[in-house]
Amino acid sequence: MREINASIPFDQRLWKQDIAGSRAHVAMLGAAGIVSAEDMAAIDQGLARIAEEYAASGVPVDLDREDIHMTTESRLAELIGPAAGRLHTARSRNDQVATDFKLWVRDAIDAVEAGLEALQGALVTRAEEHAGSVMPGFTHLQVAQPVTLGHHLMAYHEMIARDRSRFADAKARANLCPLGAAALAGTGFPIDREATARALGFDGPTRNSLDSVSDRDFALDYLQAATQCALHLSRLAEEFIIWASQPYGFVALPDAYSTGSSIMPQKRNPDAAELVRGHTGRIAGCMVALTMTMKGLPLAYSKDMQDDKPPVFEAHDLLALSIAAMTGMIETATFRTDRLRAAAEAGFSTATDLADWLVRQADIPFREAHHITGRVVKLAEEKGVALSAIPLSTLQAIDGRIDARVFDALTVDASVAARKSFGGTAPDQVRARVAEAKEALGL
Ligand code: ARG
Repeated sequence: MREINASIPFDQRLWKQDIAGSRAHVAMLGAAGIVSAEDMAAIDQGLARIAEEYAASGVPVDLDREDIHMTTESRLAELIGPAAGRLHTARSRNDQVATDFKLWVRDAIDAVEAGLEALQGALVTRAEEHAGSVMPGFTHLQVAQPVTLGHHLMAYHEMIARDRSRFADAKARANLCPLGAAALAGTGFPIDREATARALGFDGPTRNSLDSVSDRDFALDYLQAATQCALHLSRLAEEFIIWASQPYGFVALPDAYSTGSSIMPQKRNPDAAELVRGHTGRIAGCMVALTMTMKGLPLAYSKDMQDDKPPVFEAHDLLALSIAAMTGMIETATFRTDRLRAAAEAGFSTATDLADWLVRQADIPFREAHHITGRVVKLAEEKGVALSAIPLSTLQAIDGRIDARVFDALTVDASVAARKSFGGTAPDQVRARVAEAKEALGL
């Protein structure tokens, strides 16, 4: 029973929030005249001292003290005697733990937010540097149309912006204080829930005591946002892994984010990126774990809910590390612009430009232009040359309406420059989006 019941091995991580919650609670009890000014002061000073002890030597793990709440209260009794017993007036561990955990998740969101802001800064900086670096854009992982590396990196900036808004949203929704819901029904003591909510930085108190102690939506919101964010990081990681492989050679990962092999001397493996990709599975697993724990629980508190903390802690640690590793990789990667350009040129990536040219310059319907271009690509493939290297006479033999101006449209630089619709890959568009992003980030 001792072992299955105790949560102190993991919920010790809530100690700062637990002490902050208790100090806010006892200040309110004192102000409301529920405990004497003298006891209030003794309890508050005792809690301050315990915080110093925990900071200096960690939280003592004693399974007989069950959880962080009992551990702190027992220590308080050792320090100040029977007055310690007054701290728990008009409170239950049920509203206490809900409050602590909400405070913890709020801090976790702030930490993730700071990490994501730094990641966006790295993406934007590299995107600006490579606003005009041509690379192949892919669909189905087949060369599709030329894009710029800056444009590609800014796609991830957009994903991270959505992640940040999901975390901000989760934080705003979580910001009501459950303290004062007591065990499940509220309390008969004349408490001031507005005061404790305000003291702890909440927007106000929660509005239903049953919901207050049984709600873990805030933890699930966090895990869902974390899962989606990790999913984005894993896509970026996967691209780096592909790009760093020799047949691509689009990027050289720095030694700091790679490892060698114990047997193959030439190896430089993208371990950090692979672990970011792998951690995504574990983070999603944490989200599913808490979803399954909460599924079907009757109101109000059930001990199952003690299992809410390990998946949130684990997901947070993995996500924070993944964000930091990804930021470091983006900052230090060497993009091989020669290889990127050559790959764009090799894949007939300007075929759409030829079709567009036929539509615009020769007024040919797009479907017919698509057909003519298909014949040109087939010929280029047979000869093993780029579209721009086919002689004009050969092109004219395929369709007499083609003239020499077509060559201006067939280079990869002309192709990207032409795509200047809002949000398109033209270097000027990329620079404009980068400028907006930098301003938003205060860079
Ligand atoms: N350690 C518990 C948890 O994490 C605290 C709440 C316990 N409440 C109770 N009625 N046993 O959920």
